[in-house]
Order: sequence, then C-alpha cells, then structure tokens
Amino acid sequence: MTETKTLLAALKGEAQAVPPVWMMRQAGRYLPEYRETRARAGSFLELCYAPELAAEVTLQPIRRYGFDAAILFADILLVPQALGADLWFVTGEGPRLSTIESAADMARLRPAAEVHETLAPVYETLRILKGALPAETTLIGFAGAPWTVATYMIAGRGTPDQAPARRLMYGQPEVFDALIDRITEATAEYLIAQVDAGAEVVKLFDSWAGALPGPMFRRYCIEPALRILARLHEAHPGVPVIGFPRGAGGNYATYARETGVEGLALDTSVDPAWAARELSPLACLQGNLDPLLMVLGGDPLERGTRTLLEAFAGKPYIFNLGHGITPDADPAHVEQMLKVIRG
Ligand code: CP3
Repeated sequence: MTETKTLLAALKGEAQAVPPVWMMRQAGRYLPEYRETRARAGSFLELCYAPELAAEVTLQPIRRYGFDAAILFADILLVPQALGADLWFVTGEGPRLSTIESAADMARLRPAAEVHETLAPVYETLRILKGALPAETTLIGFAGAPWTVATYMIAGRGTPDQAPARRLMYGQPEVFDALIDRITEATAEYLIAQVDAGAEVVKLFDSWAGALPGPMFRRYCIEPALRILARLHEAHPGVPVIGFPRGAGGNYATYARETGVEGLALDTSVDPAWAARELSPLACLQGNLDPLLMVLGGDPLERGTRTLLEAFAGKPYIFNLGHGITPDADPAHVEQMLKVIRG
C-alpha cells in the first residue's frame, strides 16, 4: 500500500518532493483562537484535561494552515502530575511542581502503572482527533523524556542549567535512578496508551538533553529512550518515533545510531549542511528553522526557509522549527513560510 500521509512516508525514509511540515507549539498563544479557547477552559491545565477543547485547539492550526501533522494538545508535565506530584502554572513565569529531594519524596509517588486514571482525558482527546482529522493529516502523540521530566520534578520548576537535577544525580544516585526508572516506566505506559487511542507517531521531547554532562548522556538520555522504545514496540511494532535530544550537539549522531529512531528532530543550533551529511543517513530529519524568524518575517524568514529546503532536498525530511513557536510570532509569517515551502 502506498502511504498517502506524507509525514509517515518521510519517516519510512521516502523523500517527498514537497516536505511535510508542522511546527512545535503550533497550537499556542500566537493564535487568537487558542487564547479564546484557553480562556473558555479557565486555564492551561484545565484545557489539557478537557478533551473536547484540547481537540479543538489541536485542530485550530490544521484548519488555518493545513499542516501535515497535528500534535496532541497536552504537556510533558502531565506525567509527573499523574505520578502524584503537585503541578500548577504561574502566569508569565511557567510551571511549578512539588519537588523530589529524597527517598521519602520518591516513596510518595504512585506506581507507574497507575498513571492512566489521571491521563484518561488525554486518551479521549486522541480518540476525538482520530475521527476529526483530514485523511492526509498525521496524528502525533508525545511525552517528555525521563531526564527532561526529572529536571522539572527535582527542581519544581524550569531552571537555566538543571543544577538541582545534576546535584541529585551526583549526590543521591539511588534516588535519582529510582526517579528516572519511575518516569521511564510511566512514559512507556503513557505512549502505549496514546497509540492505542489513535496516535500514529510519537515524539519523545528530551528538551534538556544538552544539559546532561557528556559522560552521563548514554545512561540518562539514550538508555531510558531505548527502554521506552522497547516496551512501545512490543505493544505496537513498527510505530514510528521522533526523538528530540535538544542541545545534544555531536551526540545527535550517537543518539540516532543507538536508539534507531525513525525521526530525528534537530534543534536550532544544528548546522543543516552538517546534518544533511552526517545525520541524514541515520534517520529522517526534522527541523530546524529559528523560531525568531516567525517573529521577524520578511526576507530573513524567506532565506532561512530556503536554506533548509536546499540543505535537505532529495532526502527524507520534515520541515519544522528548531524549538517551539513563541507567543510573539505573527500568524501571517506562518503563511509566508508555507508559501515558500509549498510554492
Ligand atoms: O506543540 C504543541 O502544540 C503541542 C502541545 C505541547 C505543549 N507543551 C503545550 C504548551 C507540547 C508538545 C509541549 C511540550 C513541552 N512542555 C515541553 C517540551 C518541548 C519544549 O518546549 O522544549 C516542555 C519543556 C514543556 C513544559 C512547559 N509547558 C513549560 C516549561 C511551559 C511554560 C513555558 C511557556 O511556553 O509558557 C509550558 C506551558 C505550555 N505548554 C504552553 C503550551 C501551549 C503555554 C501555556 C499557556 O497557554 O499559557
């Protein structure tokens, strides 16, 4: 059977004449319709747990722009919440969680197999989307990778350098390893259930992979990913995975080779010419337009878009940004980018 979804075809290693395109955080605050729906839900977290409204915001960028993929509207921090952490968002600042600093804190977390009750609304969002998306649009599920999720659970918030997580890793390795194990198991459970509910691809966001000390990269980025993929593929053989070890630098190649992910999401710092040469033989590449260009528009946006199209021409490739689109981006610049890509 020939693949009618261009994103799935690209992940199978088939270069597309016009690359499939979607954007990280494509359902988000730069869109007035998103802000309206979030207000209707009450808050960001209430929106995540309201399946009809979460499906609605997932569909908004598909209706407006016709992206080739829809990414489930949810957040990587729902897994800590499902494990029993307190979670809230401070407007204008970001997430806050109860912290993990000791074996006693670990002991208060739920077993990994018990995350489904909290996460059930997310599975319902996927079931709604499965019935509502255009036939050519791929449905992407996702989760945070264990290291990245652990950084938030340990510090109780985002930090610039993940020092609290690194401190626990060196100082109380048994507590840190138990936390990584718990998140790894919960994430496998979560992603299997997402595919059960209709996700066709899953993306693993290791947004802070670049903050792992080099000697720890294999143990805390690659190994947990391998364990998650093994369980996922046992339940769902052949479901494609996009890995995003953001900031991994030269370790991008190690990650691609050792995890065997079908898709490799490049962050903004990766040189496309190097990636086309060194990484393209290992996976379908995705990325990596500077999100700032979605704020600027004009010639810089056009040049940035063309640079990527030229670098990855003739290779399996998914057009995307190098990180999430920001709230100050202009929705008209998304159309400008699409015009350059699709002609
Ligand atoms: O990409 C999408 O459109 C799908 C939905 C999605 C969100 N978060 C919605 C969101 C996805 C895939 C995520 C992943 C996520 N969440 C990551 C990994 C990707 C990355 O950005 O590196 C991380 C680290 C988080 C944790 C998180 N969520 C933070 C640190 C914040 C606050 C920072 C911010 O941008 O406000 C969030 C909030 C969040 N997640 C928003 C959205 C749309 C904004 C909340 C709002 O509407 O007020």
